[in-house]
Amino acid sequence: MKGSISKLRERASWLREEINRHNRAYYVFNKPVVSDFEFDLLLHELQAIESKYPQLVTSDSPTRRVGSDLKNESQSREFERVPHKTPMLSLSNTYNKNELFAFDQRVRKATSNSISYTCELKIDGTAISLIYENAKLIKAVTRGDGSIGDDVTSNVRQIKGIPLELSDKKGPTDFEIRGEIYMSWESFDKLNHKRAEKEEPLFANPRNAAAGSLKLLDPGATKTRSLSVLFYSVSNCEEFFRDHYNALQWAMKAGFPVSDHLRKFDNIEDVVDFIEDWELKRAELPFPIDGMVVKVNDYSVQNQVGFTSKFPRWAVAYKFKAQRVTTNLISVDYQVGRTGAVTPVANLKPVLLAGTVVKRASLHNEDQMNLLDIHIGDTVYVEKGGEIIPKIVDVDLSKRNKEAVHAVFPDKCPDCGTSLMKIENEARHYCPNSSGCPMQIKGRLLHFTSRKAMNILIGEATIEQMFNLKYLNSIADFYSLSKEQLLELDGWKEKSAERLLKSLEESKNRPFENVLFALGIRHVGENTAKLLVRNFQSIDNLINASEEQLLEVPDIGETVAFSVVNYFSDNVNLSIIKRLKTAGLNFSVRSEKSFIKSEKLKDLSFVVSGLFSISRDKLKSIIEQHSGKNVSNITGSTSYLIAGDKMGPAKLEKAKKLNINILSEKDFFDLIK
Ligand code: IVH
Repeated sequence: MKGSISKLRERASWLREEINRHNRAYYVFNKPVVSDFEFDLLLHELQAIESKYPQLVTSDSPTRRVGSDLKNESQSREFERVPHKTPMLSLSNTYNKNELFAFDQRVRKATSNSISYTCELKIDGTAISLIYENAKLIKAVTRGDGSIGDDVTSNVRQIKGIPLELSDKKGPTDFEIRGEIYMSWESFDKLNHKRAEKEEPLFANPRNAAAGSLKLLDPGATKTRSLSVLFYSVSNCEEFFRDHYNALQWAMKAGFPVSDHLRKFDNIEDVVDFIEDWELKRAELPFPIDGMVVKVNDYSVQNQVGFTSKFPRWAVAYKFKAQRVTTNLISVDYQVGRTGAVTPVANLKPVLLAGTVVKRASLHNEDQMNLLDIHIGDTVYVEKGGEIIPKIVDVDLSKRNKEAVHAVFPDKCPDCGTSLMKIENEARHYCPNSSGCPMQIKGRLLHFTSRKAMNILIGEATIEQMFNLKYLNSIADFYSLSKEQLLELDGWKEKSAERLLKSLEESKNRPFENVLFALGIRHVGENTAKLLVRNFQSIDNLINASEEQLLEVPDIGETVAFSVVNYFSDNVNLSIIKRLKTAGLNFSVRSEKSFIKSEKLKDLSFVVSGLFSISRDKLKSIIEQHSGKNVSNITGSTSYLIAGDKMGPAKLEKAKKLNINILSEKDFFDLIK
C-alpha cells in the first residue's frame, strides 16, 4: 500500500505540473497544445486521486483554482488589475449524460422546493464582467485568476452591442453582468487569412483569437477584430428578479445581447433532450460552442444548493467532444523542411470539419504512424485539437481492407536519397545532407526572404527558377545577383530586376535579430533569436559561446543550446556568415541603422529600466526611431524614466527625488501614438 501511495503521489504531482502547463498555454499564451477533452481527462484523474486520498491534496493544486489569464510577475503588466466583487468561478463539467441525472439528484437532495432549470449554449470564447453604476458602464474586467482580473474597459467599449449607458432606468442601474466575448467562425477565418498573408502566426481557434484580441494594447486594434458578446448572468439584482431566466429577459430588453437559444425546463429529462438536439445542430451556429450549461433557475434554490471553492453546485456544463469526422486516407507525403526534418502528411478524401474542408492532416512522425498502425486506404478519424492542422487521432480497424498496405516511413530522404537519421530524444527523422538536399536549400532560401526574416520581395517560383539556374545555392548568393542575371529570367524586365535589387539593398538595414532568425538555425525561431540577440549582442559573441554559456540564459534549453553550437561549428555556415557580413548585413546590435519614423521625442532623454513585453533593446530602438535619446543614468536633465517590472528600487527612488516623470510601458506607447 505504501508503495502504491507514493506512486500516486508522484502521479498527482506530475498531473499538477501538466495541468498548470496546459492552463498557462491556454489562458496566458492563448495557444493550447491539447484538446479540452484531453485536458479534462487530466483534471478528472487528479480530482479522483485527491478525493480518494485527501492526504495527497496540496493547497496550490489546480483542482482548487480556476485557470488564470493573468501574466505572471516576471512578464510585463499591461492592464490595471481589478479585484472581482464576487469570484468569477468556473463550471464543473462532464462529457457523460448520466452525470446530468446525478446532478439533478444532488440538487433535489439539497432542497425541498420545486426545481426548474435553464439550459443555454456554452459559448467558446473568453469571460468578461461588466460593472454598471447609475446605468453607465464603468468597468470591464477579464476573469483573470477568478479573484482579480485585467481592466480591459477601453477595449470592451469597442465591441459592438455593449450598451455604454442604459436608456431604461426602471430596472437595476447598479449591477454586474457577466458574459462571453467570442469571435464568429467567419471573422475568425477572415482574421487568420489576413494573418497568413502577412506571415503572422495564426490563431488556433476562435477562442484564442477572441482572448488575444481582447488583450491588445491598442483599443483601435481590438475594434478591427470584430468581436461579439453574449451575456449569461446578472448579479446584484435579487431585489428585482427572483430567478436567472427573468434577469436575462430583462437584460435582453435593456439592450444586452443575450442568446435567444436560452430555454427553461421543469425536469432534467427535457434538459437532456434539448442538449441532444444541440449536439447535432451545433455545426449550424455561426460561432463556436463547446457544450451546454444547465443552471438551477431560482435564486433562492441556487443559494440553498451553494458553491464549492471552484464552482457553483447549482450549475453544470455538459461538454461536447472535439468535432471529429471520418474520412479515407489516400496517401502519405513525406515533406522535407528547411531544417531537414521529415514530416509525414496524410492526403485525405476531402471532408467538412468545424466549418472548413480538410484535405490534409498531420501524422507528426514515425512513432505516431506506428501507434496508429496506419494503412493506405484506412478509414481514419480526424479531429481539430489545439493546432491549426487537423490530426488523425484513430483508425477504424473494422473498415480496413484485407489487402491494405502498411504506410512505411522511408529510411532515405525522399528528395535527395541520403539515409535519414534520428537525433537522440527527438521523435523526428532528419536528412543530414543540409548543404546538398535541394528541398532543404530551397526551404532555407525561402525562409531567408520571408517577412519576419530579411523581408525580400521575391516569390517561391522565382527562387525555384534561380536555384535551377544555379544562381542561388546558399543564402549568401542573394547578394551576388547581378542585373544581367535577373534580366535572363522568364518575363523579367528592367523594372522587376531593379525592384528586387532595391529590396535586397534595403534588407541590409534589417536589425540583427531578424538576420539571426533568417539564418534558419534549427530551433531558433523569431523569439529565440530575439533572446539570443539580447543576451549576446553580436554574432562573434554567439559564435564563441559555449553550450554552458548558452544554457545560462533563462528560457534557453539544451535543444537550442546544442543546435546553436552545432550550427556555428560547421565551416560551411561560417563562410556563409562571412560573405553576408561582407555584403553589409547587421551582425550586431550596435551596427543597426535605426531609421527615423517621427520627431515626437526630439530633445527628450530616456532611462529604460526593468522588464517589458518587448526587449529593452527594442524599446530603446523605438525611442531612437522617434528621435529620442537613450541615457543610462538618471540625472536632473533626464526627461523620462520608463519603468518596467522588477526594476531596481534605487533608480525609482532617485527619479522621484529628482522629480523625473515616470512612465509605464503603456504611457510610453501613448506618448508616441
Ligand atoms: S455560467 C458560475 N454560462 O464557460 C458560473 N458560463 O467553463 C459561471 N461560458 O467561465 C459561468 N457560456 O466563461 C456560464 N452560458 C454560459 C456560458 C459560460 C460560456 C464560459 C464562462 C465560464 C466558463 C466555464
